[in-house]
Amino acid sequence: MKKLPLVCLIAAALSPVLASAHEAGDFIVRGGSITVRPNENSDKVLGSAAIGSLRVDNNTQLGFTLGYMVTDNFGVELLGATPFEHKVSLSGNAIGGDIGSIKHLPPSLMAQWYFGSKEDALRPYLGVGVNYTMFFSEKFNDNGKSAGLSNLSLKDSWGVAAQAGLDYNLDENWLLNASVWWMDIDTEAKFKVAGVEEKVDVRVDPVGFMFGVGYRF
Ligand code: NI
Repeated sequence: MKKLPLVCLIAAALSPVLASAHEAGDFIVRGGSITVRPNENSDKVLGSAAIGSLRVDNNTQLGFTLGYMVTDNFGVELLGATPFEHKVSLSGNAIGGDIGSIKHLPPSLMAQWYFGSKEDALRPYLGVGVNYTMFFSEKFNDNGKSAGLSNLSLKDSWGVAAQAGLDYNLDENWLLNASVWWMDIDTEAKFKVAGVEEKVDVRVDPVGFMFGVGYRF
């Protein structure tokens, strides 16, 4: 007698079936932490191996997405975040430590395919879209300035974005979400070295990891 409710609970917990989940007409809001890890690679500053290329470190911010299910499987999603701030350094031995910092916002618009059906609690998805990255507050710190660097600016970037994600529906409204993003972000860094203008192409091409919760309505 006592075993039956337990069996029912386990069955319910393991069952991938919900009354309704992720169906045409649903809006899905997701929020959580998003970590951007640049795979940066740039030309060498002044062509010098001693100075090296520009490097950009990781940063974590609050990310949020707004999605809409056009059909039970096809959705569109807009990504936003609080501004990312990355420290900038040089890969060569000539100038050690951070030389400055940059901020950016990488809004992206994605077209998504959700696998499975609207009865499934687990909905993996793939998306592809376009990313616009706006750089701002680019500046050299005292270390960079004392090395003769000034007037840093980065050109905004348009590029392709791709994502893979997983939603796990907890109930009619709430879900857990994890997603991995890749963005093609290429920019030109412009600055002065001892008063002489220098331009360096920088391929930021970051991977982003987002973990959070979502609400479907
Ligand atoms: Ni690229």
